[in-house]
Amino acid sequence: MSADAPRPRRPVALVTGASRGIGRAVAIELGRQGFDLCLGARAQEACEALAREPVLQGVDVLSLALDVRDRRSIDAFAQAALDRFGCIDLLVANAGIGGGDLFPAMRREEIEGLVETNFLGVLHSVHAVLPAMRRQRQGAVVLVASVAGEVALPGSALYAATKAAVVRFADGLRREVRRNGIRVTAILPGFVRTDMTQGLPFPMPGPEVVAKAVLAAYRRGRRTIVVPGFYRMLIWLARAAPWLVDLVGRRILRDTDVPGRE
Ligand SMILES: NC(=O)c1ccc[n+]([C@@H]2O[C@H](COP(=O)([O-])OP(=O)(O)OC[C@H]3O[C@@H](n4cnc5c(N)ncnc54)[C@H](OP(=O)(O)O)[C@@H]3O)[C@@H](O)[C@H]2O)c1
Repeated sequence: MSADAPRPRRPVALVTGASRGIGRAVAIELGRQGFDLCLGARAQEACEALAREPVLQGVDVLSLALDVRDRRSIDAFAQAALDRFGCIDLLVANAGIGGGDLFPAMRREEIEGLVETNFLGVLHSVHAVLPAMRRQRQGAVVLVASVAGEVALPGSALYAATKAAVVRFADGLRREVRRNGIRVTAILPGFVRTDMTQGLPFPMPGPEVVAKAVLAAYRRGRRTIVVPGFYRMLIWLARAAPWLVDLVGRRILRDTDVPGRE
């Protein structure tokens, strides 16, 4: 490159739910790989603290308060990124909440909160960035779903339904926007060590495995990534022998009285 040739522009990524866990690990990995970042979560101060971490020195980071349940908040998030960086190359729609309760025991507000965050929040996030990506005629959308979107066990019926909705949405959206140069990937993590899985009594990998999958999705435009890879076998088994999952479900609930709310 000659001395006065323009430097190649750094790609720009928006990450929702960047205050901790998988979103935080994704932000760090993308920063290391040369992205500029727009980070959002309700805990804005945690995103700001992340932006000050030595590992993100030299990265242009915009940290904003974001509530994905509120589409005005998401629209403002995307607009702020465009005002600052002028383009959006990658959206990582990661913000989500767990729903570890039996459905009959859930309160209506919990049901609505889960759907609003895990599914509507994803739709709002994607809808907010698509106009810019269509104008640019390029972009990548990575949706963080879950293995639960393919295998629903007791205690996660609604959570699994929200994630299954994300997986199917990714499939359809990919086919709709391909001709606009936009690639869409669903990432299906199994159990990963974050606040969401705190207290679960078995070993699991750290959130960095999902961060690496996000990078692979951006670079290679994969349809679906299951991570860690061995969960692919579980998904295959659940499709081939759903009765086996029913059996596991019965064992999980063996000593549990399925409650109903009055
Ligand atoms: N950990 C796992 O084993 C696992 C497995 C499969 C899939 N996943 C999925 O991976 C994603 C990240 O989960 P995690 O394990 O990293 O959980 P986590 O540590 O609890 O982090 C969740 C993130 O989502 C943000 N968030 C939640 N509600 C939000 C809202 N209304 N608006 C904006 N941000 C919101 C949180 O930030 P604030 O609270 O500050 O808003 C936080 O940054 C989720 O979609 C989850 O379903 C996780």
